Amino acid sequence: MTELSLDEHWMPFTANRDFKAAPRLLTQASGVTYTDIDGQQVLDGCAGMFCCNAGHGRREIADAVAKQILDLDYISNYQIASPPAFLLAERLARMMPAGMDRIFFTNSGSEGVDTALKAALAYYDAKGETRRRRFVARERSFHGGNIAGTTLGGLVNNRRVFGAEMPGVVHMRHTLLEENRFARGRPQAGAELAEDLQRIAETYGGETIAACIVEPVAGSTGVLVPPEGYLERLREICDANGILLIYDEVITGFGRLGTAFGAQAFGVAPDIMVTAKALTNGTVPMGAVAVRRGIHDAVMDAAPDGRIEFSHGYTYSGHPVAAAAALATLDIYDNEGLFERAANLSPSFLDMVFSLEGLPAVADVRGIGMLGAFELQPGKGPEVMKALFAAGLHVKFTGDAGILAPALTMTIEDMARMGDILRDVLDKA
Ligand SMILES: Cc1ncc(COP(=O)(O)O)c(C=O)c1O
Repeated sequence: MTELSLDEHWMPFTANRDFKAAPRLLTQASGVTYTDIDGQQVLDGCAGMFCCNAGHGRREIADAVAKQILDLDYISNYQIASPPAFLLAERLARMMPAGMDRIFFTNSGSEGVDTALKAALAYYDAKGETRRRRFVARERSFHGGNIAGTTLGGLVNNRRVFGAEMPGVVHMRHTLLEENRFARGRPQAGAELAEDLQRIAETYGGETIAACIVEPVAGSTGVLVPPEGYLERLREICDANGILLIYDEVITGFGRLGTAFGAQAFGVAPDIMVTAKALTNGTVPMGAVAVRRGIHDAVMDAAPDGRIEFSHGYTYSGHPVAAAAALATLDIYDNEGLFERAANLSPSFLDMVFSLEGLPAVADVRGIGMLGAFELQPGKGPEVMKALFAAGLHVKFTGDAGILAPALTMTIEDMARMGDILRDVLDKA
């Protein structure tokens, strides 16, 4: 492997020069463990990147993918189709909150976000409410790397050099409050931050806003759990102003919070939901966007007979191989009861995450379900990330926030090992 050239691959969201000076190269993964190029085992503390909820190296998915490639490797889904995408849509529709049973496929979360916005615009166009062109998002959110997601997103480093932004996007404040530091689960304070949406509706005219998009738990920024009552109030304000509520559940979907989706965990349903990542256990890129049937039907009914109703899609929308991977993944989630397992594991997981409270390097700890974060004192993130990896634990970092989201298959023993490595490394940070 010494001949491996690292120059040509311009890596995404990576400190390329730093990485290439001391690469962390992994060659194998099984269960909750990666093996690096030198044979060192590295515990996967974040299910790849919130993708591999059933653990790595699942034979059932590999077999389903291999079979599908040999049966029918590709079909466009433009005016022709094959069963896997329909089977998957039907299956997902059953997992969604009631009424959200029309599913559009994408290749990623970023494309799912674009799709959700276009579905909202198409809906209001169909209803003749063509002034609804604005979108409301939230500070510290992450909605992917496309221009729409970059504009909606609220992480300044992801947007500051990109002048090209979508017009008509307004941001609510984020929900991280000083008094909620070290809150486990839903913080008590902060429901009133949802009133930002009402103020925006009053400032811009509620009738000019198509949708409000939020991550139920803001993930990439370092796990901001919604305060008690916050999502409930957003829902009310959306309803009062005819604004669609979009949940970006790219991280919170597929058992991460101990239920199928965050919508069920918090008991507040959106109108449109974006999913990706763990849909296929990370094996094949795929996203799925669920919309309320009324939204779908309005768009259908507005188009003349025989015409394309929603002029949107991707070459790989509903790709049969991705759909086969997703169906096999959902079988594993069901057969192994992984969403319930996540609910049962959550208290031990959160005990482990909150055991970091009190270490001098740790400024905050947050978490819910099987999703947790520790915020380090400013500037410590990059070095701690490398030190953790060297000690045998992979953690996803955004700035100084380390994010923990192990596979839902992780054992108590592996979780304890994760805690040991974390406390040991953070103690020296
Ligand atoms: C909440 C959220 N939305 C969207 C995305 C973008 O997904 P993708 O990288 O698959 O385009 C991510 C990725 O981490 C995400 O966390």
